[in-house]
Amino acid sequence: MLDVQKVRADFPILSREVNGKPLVYLDNGASAQKPQVVIDAITCAYAEEYANVHRGLHYLSNLATEKYEGVRGIIAKFLGVADEDQIILNSGTTEGINMVAYGWAMPRMEMGDEIVLSVMEHHANIVPWHFLRERQGVALKWVDVDSRGALDPQKVIDAIGPKTKLVAVTHLSNVLGTKVDVKTIIDGAHAKGVPVLVDGSQAAVHMPLNLDEMGADFYAITGHKLYGPSGSGAIYVHKDRLAEMQPFMGGGDMIREVSKDAVIYNDAPMKFEAGTPGIVQTIGLGVALDYMMGLGMENIAAHEDRLRDYAVDRLGGLNWLTVQGTTPDKAAIFSFTLDGAAHAHDVSTILDKKGVAVRAGQHCCGPLMEHMQITATCRASFAAYNTEAEVDALIDALELAHDLFG
Ligand SMILES: Cc1ncc(COP(=O)(O)O)c(C=O)c1O
Repeated sequence: MLDVQKVRADFPILSREVNGKPLVYLDNGASAQKPQVVIDAITCAYAEEYANVHRGLHYLSNLATEKYEGVRGIIAKFLGVADEDQIILNSGTTEGINMVAYGWAMPRMEMGDEIVLSVMEHHANIVPWHFLRERQGVALKWVDVDSRGALDPQKVIDAIGPKTKLVAVTHLSNVLGTKVDVKTIIDGAHAKGVPVLVDGSQAAVHMPLNLDEMGADFYAITGHKLYGPSGSGAIYVHKDRLAEMQPFMGGGDMIREVSKDAVIYNDAPMKFEAGTPGIVQTIGLGVALDYMMGLGMENIAAHEDRLRDYAVDRLGGLNWLTVQGTTPDKAAIFSFTLDGAAHAHDVSTILDKKGVAVRAGQHCCGPLMEHMQITATCRASFAAYNTEAEVDALIDALELAHDLFG
């Protein structure tokens, strides 16, 4: 079981005040705070161990390379992947999905081909596919969620037709907290010969993963939500898809030889990692994932499930507030609106005055907002360091907002 007070002590920012009130940080879905070990690792990497990676023959370059390359194995362990050469290091999910769009999808799709998506995808898992729609005439096929925000895996499988070339689906909605049964989708899609890309940006934070068992073709994660630095991340690409994928960016480190007339690429995964990478960010991500594995992903999940149940109970007591996403096994992510005229931005401003940080707006999920016929919500998203007392602080601040706007 997680000792939440001990976890909190690992995160220096949690002891600060905001607007004269203790910080209640509930914007973890956007980005999580960093434990001291990650902050120390970043400082150490710059202060004592910094040089460019891969190219040098000197001590510091070798040390930085060893630290940086060591993260590939940490990510593989975290994701439950035996072969770490299937892990491509990058700056986060947006880069990962764009790489798949440019390097794998574009060369193999043509006018009339289809990509199946759920309506609750983040823009990072929508806009790259719109590029294919705009530039190559690829059709996007949308699968709706039901009134609780659940995605029926069979509906996704049924949407796969003879022209479908890819299914791209989130593992956990950043707005609704809905968990998606990606395993059933992957099995069904593979039975029809169609690969599946899973956006794991949110899921990787909240649940243990075993990608070798899951069987996804692509699985994207982003470091800053995983208690690591911004500008870090990775995408898992199954070795069969790696063999099919073309490099997305050209430059140093992804080549073996370059002449005036030809280029010979490096082997994967380096083939897909052009240019000087986010060296320190990636080193920080490795430390963050080790930290999470030290807490135990099962323990984090169990703690957040308790917080979810408590928050469901307390928010459910507010009969002037509507929560979007009500599946029973959802993650502790709550998007809500206050009945009446109060706009989400105004509500979040009042909460901020009480030290409670939430996000307000569309949460980069335009099609979902359209589906729900809502222009904006406030979103409170919980992490391993949040407490039931912070749920209470959220409720108190919401009551104040309701008194002001109600
Ligand atoms: C579900 C989901 N996918 C993708 C992203 C994009 O991640 P990044 O901006 O770190 O690339 C986010 C971030 O909010 C997200 O929540």
